[in-house]
Amino acid sequence: MSNTEPRPAGSPATDDDPDTAPVGPFPGVTSPGRGALPALAVPVLGGLALAVVLGVYGRLHEPGTVAVSVAGFSGPAYVKAWLTTVAVLLAVVQLVSALNMYGRIGHASPSWVSTLHRWSGRLAVLVTVPVVVHCLYVFGFGYDSPRVLVHSLAGCLFYGAFATKMLSLPRRDVPGWTLPVVGGVVFSALVALWLTAALWLFTTRGVHL
Ligand code: HEM
Repeated sequence: MSNTEPRPAGSPATDDDPDTAPVGPFPGVTSPGRGALPALAVPVLGGLALAVVLGVYGRLHEPGTVAVSVAGFSGPAYVKAWLTTVAVLLAVVQLVSALNMYGRIGHASPSWVSTLHRWSGRLAVLVTVPVVVHCLYVFGFGYDSPRVLVHSLAGCLFYGAFATKMLSLPRRDVPGWTLPVVGGVVFSALVALWLTAALWLFTTRGVHL
């Protein structure tokens, strides 16, 4: 183990790289302190740049049409709504596994929990990719209602924060609270995406495939 910082009680590893990633403000966790804030510049600017690029593309791109038919589904909107629901369920698994890794829930953290945390997070983001491609290509950055505006902003924030998390992971010099806080932003943005689109669809057009 190359990193000298103590791990949360009972947790085998931190997030995606058990040997290098500093961890957050949890029991028994230390961090590099205030002097570490500049180390966040690159991850935050990288995430911000991605969020802005998605938003500008979505705003400037002329909405197109694309024929999507998936066997068993009534249309692309429901494919997207169910994929978004799967992504949220995977994100809940990632959140619960993180709370266990940091000693917030459960007594010990078996070694497979960090693997579950890594893969549930990766799959959650992977599942959203075909959805956002359809959103950006067919709808673009919408703002014709507060719901659609919040949805479009949450979509940009989701990928921006995810990029910031991925850029922070290999760094040892970022503040210890970085991963829990940025992870929390990613999770909240995904829930906002689900509420403003999938739940809206299910409550206005019914729950079906
Ligand atoms: C930059 C990111 C995104 C933008 C600009 C965007 C934009 C939009 C817009 C304008 C709509 C139509 C809303 C309506 O008129 O009801 C929509 C629908 C939807 N979006 Fe997104 N979205 C983005 C990312 C995402 C992501 C990441 C997800 C899922 C994780 C998602 C899931 C959905 C779903 C389920 C619908 C409703 C189904 C539909 O009407 O096709 N969106 N999106």
